[in-house]
Amino acid sequence: MLKLENVSMTVNNSNGSRREIIRDINIDFEPGKLYAITGPNGGGKTTLAKVIMGIYQHSTGNIYLNGEDISQLGVTERARCGIAYAFQQPPRFKGLNVSDLIKIASPGIDGLGLRKKLRDVGLCPEDYLDRDMGPGLSGGEAKRIEIAQVLSRDSIISIFDEPEAGVDLWTVQRLIGLIVQKYQDNPESTAIIITHHENVLPICDEIIVLEEGLIKLRGSTEEIWPLIKNDVQCKMREQCRGEVCYEL
Ligand SMILES: Nc1ncnc2c1ncn2[C@@H]1O[C@H](COP(=O)(O)OP(=O)(O)O)[C@@H](O)[C@H]1O
Ligand SMILES: [Mg+2]
Repeated sequence: MLKLENVSMTVNNSNGSRREIIRDINIDFEPGKLYAITGPNGGGKTTLAKVIMGIYQHSTGNIYLNGEDISQLGVTERARCGIAYAFQQPPRFKGLNVSDLIKIASPGIDGLGLRKKLRDVGLCPEDYLDRDMGPGLSGGEAKRIEIAQVLSRDSIISIFDEPEAGVDLWTVQRLIGLIVQKYQDNPESTAIIITHHENVLPICDEIIVLEEGLIKLRGSTEEIWPLIKNDVQCKMREQCRGEVCYEL
């Protein structure tokens, strides 16, 4: 469905040297599967997502969607082809309200549908439908609205960049349930979840570990999860110091 062939992305450093952020990535994402991309901070996960979405232009290699080379297409064209991306840090759109944003994603949606989309991500529709998408929203609120927007779209490839970041544990479980329900075993679509979460990784079909821009490990979850489990669990404990503290 979505095929990355020898994809690399290089940036210019301030001293004039060049740095490869993702290196020679080859992945064939199949329909009906849930992929997890994980790995240390700075490993290139967000960059890879932005390269797939066309926000960053890759330097070498090719990207194919259902056999068609989309390497030269921009963000809007890739969105039209059915690729959607929920940012790690969602951008704010001052002057646009929540209901407008969901309607852009799903033009035919009615009032009941709109309300359900917000309730699904744990937000009360009465409080949020008319809220401005500007900087007045907290990180967690913007994140949930963005996930609702991507879930409303009729995409064939949906990328969720750390959906757990800034969202409470109860909502994470709920969001993951929605993602699984929509994408797992759906022959029309694929979901890629960038995550470190110990509750999310084991329920994906495949895990890809990206480190220093390279694929360090990849395979079925049965195969990869036991190898990374201890690292992920330790990391979570280190971050929360035994307490689970989430920004709401
Ligand atoms: N536009 C950019 N220009 C220069 N360096 C970048 C750019 N985007 C990301 N990087 C660098 O590339 C590396 C990978 O970043 P990122 O993809 O955000 O990692 P991850 O999502 O895995 O934490 C980091 O060292 C980051 O500072
Ligand atoms: Mg990232």
